[in-house]
Amino acid sequence: MGAVQSWYNRHVLPRWVSAACGMPHVTAQRRRVVPAARGVVLEVGIGPGHNLALYDPCQVTRVIGADPVAEMTERAADAIARAPVPVEMLHASAEDLPLENGQADTAVLTFTACTIPRVEEGLAELRRILRPGGRLLFLEHGLSPDPEVARWQRRMDPWWSRIAGGCHVNREVPALLGAAGFEILKVETEYAVKTPRVLGYLSWGAAAPR
Ligand SMILES: C[S@@+](CC[C@H](N)C(=O)[O-])C[C@H]1O[C@@H](n2cnc3c(N)ncnc32)[C@H](O)[C@@H]1O
Repeated sequence: MGAVQSWYNRHVLPRWVSAACGMPHVTAQRRRVVPAARGVVLEVGIGPGHNLALYDPCQVTRVIGADPVAEMTERAADAIARAPVPVEMLHASAEDLPLENGQADTAVLTFTACTIPRVEEGLAELRRILRPGGRLLFLEHGLSPDPEVARWQRRMDPWWSRIAGGCHVNREVPALLGAAGFEILKVETEYAVKTPRVLGYLSWGAAAPR
C-alpha cells in the first residue's frame, strides 16, 4: 500500500465511514434490527459501535465486538463507555474468530458483509459460533434487483472498493447467507432514503443456522 493510501485509510476513511454510518436515517434502520438481539451477542465488524446504544439491557447479557481495523474501533470508545450492556472488544477478523462453537445466542451484522474480504468464510465462522436455535440479525446494502442500478454497481465496484475500505456494492447478502448454511427467517428490502441507489439497496432481517 502506498503512503497516500495508508494516510487516507488512517485519517480520512474511519472519519468518513463513521459519519456516514452514524447518520440519523441509518440509525432509524438499525432500530428495526438491533433491539431484537438476545443473550450473548457477537457483533462482527463493530467499527465505531453505532449499534451499541440500541441493545436492550433487559435482553442482552453482553456484546462481543469483533473488528480487525484498529482505526475503526478506536472511534468506539465513547459508545462503549455509554453502552447499556457490557462490551468486550476483540481485534479479530470475521474469517477467523477466537471463539468457541455455539458461544453466541445472537450474531449481528450491519453494513459489514459488504467489506469482509473472504465473506463466505466470515459467514461460515458466524454460523459456527452461533448456538443451534440462535439468530443472525442483519442489515446490509448490496446488489439491486433493478438491472440499470446493478449495471452501475458492477461498473463502480472496482474503484469504489478502493476508496471505501474494501466495501463492495454488488454483493447479494441474503443469497450469501443461504449458501453459508443459514435459513432466512425474515428478509425485507428497500432503497434507503437520502442515499444514491447504487449504495442504498438494503436487505435486513433474521436468519438461523440450518
Ligand atoms: C462500513 S463499516 C460498518 C461498521 C458497523 N458494523 C456499523 O454498522 O456501523 C465496515 C466494518 O467492517 C470492518 N471489517 C473490515 N474487514 C473485516 C473483517 N475481515 N472482519 C470483520 N470486520 C471487518 C471494518 O473495519 C469496519 O468497521
